[in-house]
Amino acid sequence: MTHRNDSATNRKLTRVSADEMQRIALYPGSFDPLTNGHVNIIERGLSLCDELVVAIVHNPNKAPMFSVEERMEILREVFPDEQRVRLTTFSGLLVNYAREVQANAILRGLRAVADFEYESQMANMNRRLAPEVETVFLMAEPGSFFVSSRLVKEVALLGGDISGSVPPQALARLTAKVKQLQGKRA
Ligand code: PNS
Repeated sequence: MTHRNDSATNRKLTRVSADEMQRIALYPGSFDPLTNGHVNIIERGLSLCDELVVAIVHNPNKAPMFSVEERMEILREVFPDEQRVRLTTFSGLLVNYAREVQANAILRGLRAVADFEYESQMANMNRRLAPEVETVFLMAEPGSFFVSSRLVKEVALLGGDISGSVPPQALARLTAKVKQLQGKRA
């Protein structure tokens, strides 16, 4: 009898804590700069969790167009009032940061087949390092399937129109940055 009651209590406690558990997802990336594809993943990712931690990586091996601070400003401008989006930066191993922010899941967007190999390697390595953190992929929406930060920068530097691929806040920054870089070269 006592045993049955204990089990019932345990079951109840387990259910209560599961109900109260905050689902935190971590969306890491370079965001150099933020594209409409990223924005779409953030908006859709919010339906899967209570809080979405969007984290800009400090990567000493990459030469970015925008500083981490500039990239953060763009994110802040695009998501000024969204209480459930936390904007942060991190360096070092992603899984360590995922544990630090108590994320249950790492969120990544998946575009063309070309993304798959890189993403599956990362997801499997991250799983080996931190089996408790699941990687969740959202398929890019059709309109963003071909959009990448790398292409956006290339097209902008060559004078092409990238207004359909980035949010207006990023477009303004890109236009200013291209002018600044071209001024330096002249
Ligand atoms: O937007 P990106 O550049 O595709 O994002 C890549 C990112 C930040 C997810 C990846 O470079 C990363 O996780 N960097 C942190 C260092 C790390 O944990 N490396 C091992 C990954 S298995």
